[in-house]
Amino acid sequence: MNLETEVLGFKLENPIMPASGPLVGDFSKIMDISNRGVGAIVTKTISTKSAVVPRPCIYAERNFVMNAELWSELPPQEWIDNILPKLREELDKPLIVSVGYTEDDMEFLIPKLDPFADAFEVSTHYVGKDIERIGRIVRKIRSLTKKPIAMKMSPHIPDPVGFAKMVKENGGNAVVAINSVGPSMKIDVENRRILFGDKNGFVWLSGPYIKPIALAMVHAISSSVNGIDVIGVGGIRDASDVVEFLLAGAKAVQLLSSALIYGKDIYRRIIDNLPKVLKKYGFESVKDVVSTELKVEFSLEPKHPRIDLDRCTLCGICEMVCPYWAIWVFKDERKVVLQEEKCFGCGLCESRCPVDAISGVFER
Ligand SMILES: Cc1cc2nc3c(=O)[nH]c(=O)nc-3n(C[C@H](O)[C@H](O)[C@H](O)COP(=O)(O)O)c2cc1C
Repeated sequence: MNLETEVLGFKLENPIMPASGPLVGDFSKIMDISNRGVGAIVTKTISTKSAVVPRPCIYAERNFVMNAELWSELPPQEWIDNILPKLREELDKPLIVSVGYTEDDMEFLIPKLDPFADAFEVSTHYVGKDIERIGRIVRKIRSLTKKPIAMKMSPHIPDPVGFAKMVKENGGNAVVAINSVGPSMKIDVENRRILFGDKNGFVWLSGPYIKPIALAMVHAISSSVNGIDVIGVGGIRDASDVVEFLLAGAKAVQLLSSALIYGKDIYRRIIDNLPKVLKKYGFESVKDVVSTELKVEFSLEPKHPRIDLDRCTLCGICEMVCPYWAIWVFKDERKVVLQEEKCFGCGLCESRCPVDAISGVFER
């Protein structure tokens, strides 16, 4: 199965990259992640000063990660003198150097990083919501390098399409969507305190919880702005998630939190599983998914659920959750009654049935 994809002018062996973060924080970490088969490398965000990071700084549960990290805790000179030159020699795949944040930071950093970078990914996480300012940062970087520029968008940007247009108009080549969501917070009830975070107790949220937000932003941009690549990131934990992002309009994807939750093996596992999952959904290659147009179907006509009594275990979940009091489970008589006049065709019962005994609402 051909997993190749083209993004930022590169041909990648597969569409999986690490997202910027601790796993790509120095030379040996990057080489370890690279050896797990990813198609390209993205570094931890380098800025003009080392980050001073509160500890603890990472907390994870099954479906999310919270973090209080900033950018690289290493000084830029360490990257320029040691890490990037060694990577340039050892890496056998595109090296995307993540940088942040202001025009002044770019003035200082880009000329020094340019000899080592195949492309730049620019974090906009701490530069606010003003897309005019994003435009000025892109223009500044473009004046300093000929390399591809991917602007990483944070989900607090109110107008993702405007952001992408601004990137394109000022000479950028791609949008990476999305950075972590926030501010968010974790409470330690036992001790009547905020568990961890910045001086205000705030942290950033990432991982599977944020995937639906990331998908919507990727699709909003890719369906509205031509001539710009979109790289999808946010909550990917398996090969099916990768296919979703590619269908939403991404040409490649990145992930971090699922590696923090489930372990670093996840990169290899996703790459190994991708052919199987593509085949299961009838795709012949990654490019086949990328070139498939995602249908949007909008309907005002309700469709009512059909209940397959051979599959139904009479568990009663549909009755318990129905927001319209339209479905009733009679265990003794082994029957489920749908009152069509009450049913709104919302779909909740179908999505919550644990044995797929309900169908008909979402199908087209
Ligand atoms: C611990 C941690 C550190 C991160 N550091 C950075 C960073 O330095 N630069 C950046 O652009 N994004 C950073 N991110 C955001 C991720 O690159 C990514 O955009 C976000 O976590 C969503 O993807 P995920 O759900 O796969 O983790 C960090 C995320 C985490 C969890």
